[in-house]
Amino acid sequence: MNKKILTKTVARLMKIPKGILAIDESLNTSAGRFLKLGVPNTEEKRREYRELLITAPKIEKYISGYILFDETIKQKTVDGKSFVSILNSKGIEIGIKVDAGTTDFSNHDGEKITKGLEGLSERLKEYKKLGATFAKWRAVYTIGVHIPSFDCMKVNAEIFAKYAILCQENDIVPIVEPEILIDGNHTLEKCYQVTARNLEMVFAKLKDANVFLPGMILKTSMVISGKESKEKSSPEKVAEITLRCLKEHVPEDIGGIVFLSGGQFDLEATMNLNAMHKNNFLPWPLSFSYGRAIQNPAFKSWAKNPNDVSGAQELLLQSAQNNSLASIGKYK
Ligand code: G3H
Repeated sequence: MNKKILTKTVARLMKIPKGILAIDESLNTSAGRFLKLGVPNTEEKRREYRELLITAPKIEKYISGYILFDETIKQKTVDGKSFVSILNSKGIEIGIKVDAGTTDFSNHDGEKITKGLEGLSERLKEYKKLGATFAKWRAVYTIGVHIPSFDCMKVNAEIFAKYAILCQENDIVPIVEPEILIDGNHTLEKCYQVTARNLEMVFAKLKDANVFLPGMILKTSMVISGKESKEKSSPEKVAEITLRCLKEHVPEDIGGIVFLSGGQFDLEATMNLNAMHKNNFLPWPLSFSYGRAIQNPAFKSWAKNPNDVSGAQELLLQSAQNNSLASIGKYK
């Protein structure tokens, strides 16, 4: 593990006011989103859409890294330039989703474990040759009556640790993404408790495995009430409770923290991040790594009118700029 390479990559990724754009939707997730808007879910259509995202002019002003999917890291523009070369020419870091999705956790109803460790070392080496400097692994946790269970949190945390060490041994910065799902009617307080317990478990296992914390990034969900909950919190409240949770449960020497949007309304994700940067002392760089909250307007526009690429790119740039402003508390 070359700690210098890892910390340098982290510094480039966490260069506020930039954030990371996630365009690493799996084939299943893409299928769901494409079909909902009447776009055929073919490899060519996915390539065409991702070309729009990758070639968006000036996006590098707001985005430090793109997280790609296996299919995407190998794709090219219509005129034959590799996506990786385009991102490199803009000074954007190449990230890659390396988990293989989730599977049911046996004997634990409603709980999931993330798979993909098998062959991971070889895949990391291949992705590194293709230009990847960072990777992402996501685990999901549903809040229910007795879940997430201790076992589910423990097993996912142990898997995170194995993944993170393998990445670092290959000089690839691991993004560790424990996502507490927004589904359900849980309260803000319940989300706080679950997030806190889970972060404690994740960092205990990362430390046990000797993961080099300054050479990794945490990608987390915000502390918010469930989508079906009647309780609606202001950005100030979400910021206060999320920061309290992170300050209490995330080591100060970690490379940085970025948020996923997780199905929040686009503006909600932006306003919450903005509120976190209002007069708060933060021990780590804190930014965004949204997928939907940045892509949504561009995706909808392209789905409706695929020929208006520059119109969709302008919408992408606008969302990226809004979140960039939020990462320094200047979004209005
Ligand atoms: O794994 C999820 C993505 O990296 C973030 O996507 O912002 O749409 O939740 P999202």
